[in-house]
Amino acid sequence: MALKAWISLVLPVFCTGLFVVPLSKQQIPVKVRGQIVSHKSAYSGTVYVGLPPQKFAVVFDSGSGHICLPSAGCQAESCMKHRRYRAAASATILKLNHDGSNVTDDSDERDRVSVSYSTGEILGDFAKEIICLGASMSDSAARDVLSWTSAGRKGPAAGALPEHCIDARVIFADEMTSEPFSSFDFDGVMGLGLSDLALHPDFNAVSLFSQSPIFAVFLGQSDGDGSELAVGGFDSRRVQDGVLHWVELASSCSGYWCVRIHHVYVNGTSLDVCEGPDPCFAIVDTGTSMLGVPRAALADFLAATTWRLAPDSAQDCRLAHGPDLTFNLGSFNLSLESESYFRPLPMRSKAPSNGSAVMPICRASLLPVEMPLLGKKVFIFGEPVLTRYYTVFDAGQRQIGFGVPASQVEVLFL
Ligand SMILES: *[C@@H]1O[C@H](CO)[C@@H](O)[C@H](O)[C@H]1NC(C)=O
Ligand SMILES: *[C@@H]1O[C@H](CO)[C@@H](O)[C@H](O)[C@H]1NC(C)=O
Ligand SMILES: *[C@@H]1O[C@H](CO)[C@@H](O)[C@H](O)[C@H]1NC(C)=O
Ligand SMILES: *[C@@H]1O[C@H](CO)[C@@H](O)[C@H](O)[C@H]1NC(C)=O
Repeated sequence: MALKAWISLVLPVFCTGLFVVPLSKQQIPVKVRGQIVSHKSAYSGTVYVGLPPQKFAVVFDSGSGHICLPSAGCQAESCMKHRRYRAAASATILKLNHDGSNVTDDSDERDRVSVSYSTGEILGDFAKEIICLGASMSDSAARDVLSWTSAGRKGPAAGALPEHCIDARVIFADEMTSEPFSSFDFDGVMGLGLSDLALHPDFNAVSLFSQSPIFAVFLGQSDGDGSELAVGGFDSRRVQDGVLHWVELASSCSGYWCVRIHHVYVNGTSLDVCEGPDPCFAIVDTGTSMLGVPRAALADFLAATTWRLAPDSAQDCRLAHGPDLTFNLGSFNLSLESESYFRPLPMRSKAPSNGSAVMPICRASLLPVEMPLLGKKVFIFGEPVLTRYYTVFDAGQRQIGFGVPASQVEVLFL
């Protein structure tokens, strides 16, 4: 552990043309009858908003399309627990209506917008603001940015801003539901979905990355495992032998980063959920902590993956070698070992062959998914996939790359 912590200190923060934002993990226990059965988790990184910079922790969420932060005007408990954005303190804010038009000083009738997440909702106002990822800007860069914004933001933003900063449309929320915003430490969300997920393409943060519309995510199992977001490219040293398996995006996913699943295998045996006329899709979602499977197929998945422990075995399912779950994405098989999708705590079940005995079993932790707009069979590749693969999101070539992470020691000696 100590070695890992030391190694991550010497990893470069800047690589050429690529900006890396370290992410930290927060876990919240999920209890059933007083016992911790699993954890909800969130990975967040730092952004600096406006000038002088105001610091926030945000979740970089490939499954949503907007940047949302709590505003100073929000009095809800979910906002009061967090850092709140003060518009009056920023020299670079440009208030906007929903259609992009300027807000006049006397307009009380400012448009408001609501954004829904799978677990919550926010309501707020729009503005344009400068957002710097991972680090604030130098004093000289700040002077250049100030003269650009005070002259009406004329000319391309890319020329005026440091490469890790974007001039983005942001929703400053004055109402936020307590789920998930109260339970976690992060203040807001930076959506990294494709442009169709946003109310307007101008909201799309990915297209604003100056180098190229690419980002990459690696989520470590625990803090100190080098969780990071890379923006403007990816770091090929983070994957074994520099090899990424590219899979093209499916065309009909309304702005989600999604790929077609052709077949599903449980330890090599086909599970017939993706056979038949309705195609299977998987949304690759950095903002979801579980593996999602179509609700109609949940029982099949649980039955096929349930794993019986010996009655006297160590009672931790992460140590049980249950079946591998493999998703065939065409030319690439994405494979999860049971330790990445099992609930840690065994459950008790009657052994079918043995009337009275109660046997410990391991079960998958799966999120039932219903997204009829995308189709009948939608999966979500959340944290269990993103802790297993270094994942590259390429909006330009419309593809996703999966690579086996290099161990941290390999990265050090490159
Ligand atoms: C909106 O405000 C900016 C900065 O004050 C100004 O440069 C721009 O021309 C305005 N746009 C419209 C459509 O009024
Ligand atoms: C994926 O796994 C299945 C089942 O083990 C196998 O039949 C298939 O050839 C594999 N495909 C690739 C591309 O590795
Ligand atoms: C999965 O397959 C491998 C090799 O065929 C076998 O050794 C292992 O016991 C199987 N695991 C389960 C959980 O069925
Ligand atoms: C039934 O359960 C008992 C108690 O756990 C155990 O001793 C016995 O071996 C089991 N029998 C079978 C057939 O699994």
